[in-house]
Amino acid sequence: MDEETQERIVSGNEKDDDKSLDFTLRPQRIEEYIGQDKVKDNLKITIQAARQRGDIIEHVLLYGAPGLGKTTLAHLIANETGSQIRITSGPAIEKSGDLAAILSNLNEGDILFIDEIHRLNKAIEEILYPAMEDYALDIIIGKGPSARTVRIDLSRFTIIGATTKISQLSAPLRDRFGIHYHLDFYRPEEIAKIVDRSSRILGVKMDKEASQTIAERARRTPRIANRLLKRVRDYCEVKGDGSLEKKMCLKALDMLEVDSLGLDWVDRKILGAIIDKFNGGPVGLNTISAVTGEDTATIEDVYEPYLMRLGFLDRLPRGRVATYLAYEHLGKEKPKQSNLI
Ligand SMILES: Nc1ncnc2c1ncn2[C@@H]1O[C@H](COP(=O)(O)OP(=O)(O)OP(=O)(O)O)[C@@H](O)[C@H]1O
Ligand SMILES: [Mg+2]
Repeated sequence: MDEETQERIVSGNEKDDDKSLDFTLRPQRIEEYIGQDKVKDNLKITIQAARQRGDIIEHVLLYGAPGLGKTTLAHLIANETGSQIRITSGPAIEKSGDLAAILSNLNEGDILFIDEIHRLNKAIEEILYPAMEDYALDIIIGKGPSARTVRIDLSRFTIIGATTKISQLSAPLRDRFGIHYHLDFYRPEEIAKIVDRSSRILGVKMDKEASQTIAERARRTPRIANRLLKRVRDYCEVKGDGSLEKKMCLKALDMLEVDSLGLDWVDRKILGAIIDKFNGGPVGLNTISAVTGEDTATIEDVYEPYLMRLGFLDRLPRGRVATYLAYEHLGKEKPKQSNLI
């Protein structure tokens, strides 16, 4: 397959053809939301307590890797509390006036969902501080010595912020969220449940073995699980009678070049370079980037975290090292003398 044009099927980031699926597959109620038990337990109490007090819920910050269910959770909170939800995102708010307009149009009890909140411009962020704390907008009228601040009251609302990069959020903004939920990677059995649920909704016939086969390769991420399911379904419809069983699933996944642990050709290219060209490492990030043609930030943020989670790669002060597990998985002969840990 042409490496330059091949899309990366096991990326957690949202792709265009995920969107149509999202609408049908997205859990609407808390009972349908699989896994993340700690978050769900806390959330149920928060919602119940607010209901008993007749109050709105506090501002909620959701963080976790792409595709783990942050947007889904925000919609679900709106459904469970019977609130209207307005949706925007950090990069979409370009001027402070944009945010002021959004905030002043909110009604009592509304939810404002701000996706990618870490990308909010700092000057705009400051408008949020009094809005979140006191439900007020401080507007400066005039310029120079005659400028004065006018405070406008807002309705009481809840902000739900979502981010994949909590470390890039400023401390003052982070602290204004009363509730922080960290979404973690799902357990394999939870991903299998998600595949089962999605296959039922899509009307796909599949057995347990088949759903497990897909789940094992989904990098513990619901979005990837749903995407693999869809692509495997396409394959089975064209090459078979549309029903998914393990053997057909394996053939489809083979064609998609997704291996038994969900590694794709880029992951294998990175590990392969460290092993074949640098005797397992240590090798610097820039060198890996030059050899593989992937840029350093992408290697660091997208590929390495999963490889490290599998224990295939280690980051040492002197550079990256491929571990014995990586050699084993790629079927490479372990070097007799090496720097491996
Ligand atoms: N707990 C869950 N149970 C079942 N399906 C889920 C769950 N979480 C997510 N999904 C599915 O995964 C898809 C991706 O989730 P979602 O869009 O909420 O991720 P996200 O965390 O907002 O990602 P991003 O960081 O890219 O915005 C959803 O469309 C939904 O179908
Ligand atoms: Mg999202």
